[in-house]
Amino acid sequence: MHATTAPEAQHTDIIIRLAGRRDRPSVEAMARRCSRAALAARFHAPRRDIPEPYLSEALRRSPLHHALVAKVDNTVVGLASACVTGGEVAELAVLVEDDHQNRGVGSLLLGDLAALSAWRGVRRFTALIGTDNTPIRRALNGLHGRGYTGHWTWRACPDGLEGTASTIPHPPFLAVGERSASSCLDLAGLVAA
Ligand SMILES: CC(C)(COP(=O)(O)OP(=O)(O)OC[C@H]1O[C@@H](n2cnc3c(N)ncnc32)[C@H](O)[C@@H]1OP(=O)(O)O)[C@@H](O)C(=O)NCCC(=O)NCCS
Repeated sequence: MHATTAPEAQHTDIIIRLAGRRDRPSVEAMARRCSRAALAARFHAPRRDIPEPYLSEALRRSPLHHALVAKVDNTVVGLASACVTGGEVAELAVLVEDDHQNRGVGSLLLGDLAALSAWRGVRRFTALIGTDNTPIRRALNGLHGRGYTGHWTWRACPDGLEGTASTIPHPPFLAVGERSASSCLDLAGLVAA
């Protein structure tokens, strides 16, 4: 399903910001551009769209559901979320539309999401991924490589692989500032949310 491909030219103009209700039409339009395979990989079931109530929850700016959108040329091309599942634990998930995959969007979204979640008190991440989903596994492992998380550990589960990792041990916005040359995380929006 995920053939190993050479990276496309990396996007240099990605804007990452907190998702909100006004993003709904753009996020739904992005989902319509996604392949069935991408939606199935994200939601672990055949789908044509992003399921409710997940989408409403992701756009609500709840302190228990941290969601970010990625924009390229003023178009939403990715949605990532960290859903608090209990205590200080949140499940990470991300969707990038097919035509913008393998250009660094997913990694950038996950880095900012990890930073935001850690800032909001999350201490451990989980992720549920398909066994053959190399891109998401590499993107999540990349969080450790860039200092956002500890090592991921994986175990088999009925839907694929379940991973877990601790969050970063140092102030998250330091990490955001260190690598934000090509992204513009809206800190004011985050603080207000
Ligand atoms: C998984 C996903 C979010 C990754 O986003 P992306 O923007 O394509 O990823 P990036 O460009 O940041 O690349 C991340 C890593 O995956 C690798 N990668 C990307 N596409 C790849 C492909 N087709 N084959 C192999 N590796 C790939 C990149 O080389 C990079 O690895 P590195 O950091 O070790 O160099 C995106 O492919 C997607 O939305 N897939 C469908 C939904 C899904 O599977 N979600 C995950 C379940 S929650």
